[in-house]
Amino acid sequence: MTIGTGPRGPGVLVIEPMGNAGRFLVEAADRLGLRLYAATHKEVHDAYPDRLRSALAGVCATDLTDTPRALADMEAFCRSRAVAGVAVCFELFTPLAAVLAERVGLPGNDPLLARAARNKILMGEAFSAAGVPAPRWAVARDAAEARRVAESGGLGRPLVVKPAEQGGSWGVSVVDAPDGAAGRGGGSGAGRGGGVGCGPGRPDGPGPLAAAVAAAQRFTHAQPHGLELDTTALLQEYVPGAEYSCDTVVAGGVAYPLPVVRKDTTRGRYRIETGHTCPSGLDPELVRTVQHTAARAALAVGVRNGIAHTELKIPPGTRTPYVIETGARLPGDNLCEVVEAATGVSEAVAYLQAVLGRVPDTVATASAAASIRFLLPEHGGVLRHASIPEAPGTHSELHLRPGDPVPEPADSACRIGHVLARAATAHLARALAAGVVARSRVEVG
Ligand SMILES: Nc1ncnc2c1ncn2[C@@H]1O[C@H](COP(=O)(O)OP(=O)(O)OP(=O)(O)O)[C@@H](O)[C@H]1O
Ligand SMILES: [Mg+2]
Repeated sequence: MTIGTGPRGPGVLVIEPMGNAGRFLVEAADRLGLRLYAATHKEVHDAYPDRLRSALAGVCATDLTDTPRALADMEAFCRSRAVAGVAVCFELFTPLAAVLAERVGLPGNDPLLARAARNKILMGEAFSAAGVPAPRWAVARDAAEARRVAESGGLGRPLVVKPAEQGGSWGVSVVDAPDGAAGRGGGSGAGRGGGVGCGPGRPDGPGPLAAAVAAAQRFTHAQPHGLELDTTALLQEYVPGAEYSCDTVVAGGVAYPLPVVRKDTTRGRYRIETGHTCPSGLDPELVRTVQHTAARAALAVGVRNGIAHTELKIPPGTRTPYVIETGARLPGDNLCEVVEAATGVSEAVAYLQAVLGRVPDTVATASAAASIRFLLPEHGGVLRHASIPEAPGTHSELHLRPGDPVPEPADSACRIGHVLARAATAHLARALAAGVVARSRVEVG
């Protein structure tokens, strides 16, 4: 007889486990003795790495872009396999997961609010309704509307322009407005209403604001599933200051805070995440404030049984975190590994416990540190060579291979690899990872 563990344990259906957090969900399901099922497209499943494919107890092949069909297929699957929880990896599927959980009668998020965890316009409305500190914002359906918003001065300068629905910093730009140039450096030091750095726009091309709106609106569908996206651009007030992320696991409507992580990004026009470090270096009181604000953001977008990844900035000289965004999903960027290495807390375990309606394990069992740094190219092209030296306390991975195209460094798609370091303190972990990155060789032709 098997009690609680092994193949007879409860089953969780993951709506597309192929994201960065997928491998952490697989490990967590193994630790908890859960059966893991996937809902995906047949072609997407065909491209799964062997490790993921062999970890699955079964697959619900459907069309996730066809909501009625996907819901019918997944509901039948959940009932036939006695599935006990629904999870996601991709932010874009979080509303689908909320509706499915309600239909099947499983613990899940509020289906009426769930779209606010995917669409940044609805998110802005949900934050306003719940009084969550967040940047002021306006929508722009085209460049002319963006210019009117910029000229009104209501959002100050510089402005952040981003897609309503996207991730990985794709299509996100910081621009001076309405006629100025894109920022180049100095962004994090700029105060509210301050410039982000100026330079002339191309005399023959669209102004920086129009270019930013076009960049934000260029994503009509998300791959690999082909899900249709809201192409409205969002304009936001620029929040200066250091950036953090903090995840919140919610079970039965009760929020359990997870560790705060310091985030580093590029400066200037494009904000690509260059690294993450845990612990954050904030004093304990500010850590609690960040956790509290992140929990409010998670609850504001209807997270009730699941997890939220929230990003926040704290303007210099203040102790008020502003929420840049939240997503009802596990973090990407190997943050599950960073947090567990530093604190012993497995966010993926806590997430699976929450979707099963259990009290999540969120108590830290370690007080070490970890830092991940990403290798970025100076420009786009073709990868000629990439190598990362080995160093004790670190491990690394290359994301691209020689011959692969390297996108322009405008979003996280350009990242060539990463180094993850563990050490006794955040300072040491960060320095260790940064040292290995500095000794790495990247040649892009
Ligand atoms: N209003 C803002 N003020 C200051 N910086 C911002 C603002 N909005 C976005 N940024 C910067 O741009 C980055 C990317 O923006 P955002 O998080 O909204 O996009 P995303 O594509 O959803 O990100 P992710 O990479 O987390 O999926 C943020 O991490 C932050 O550094
Ligand atoms: Mg983000």
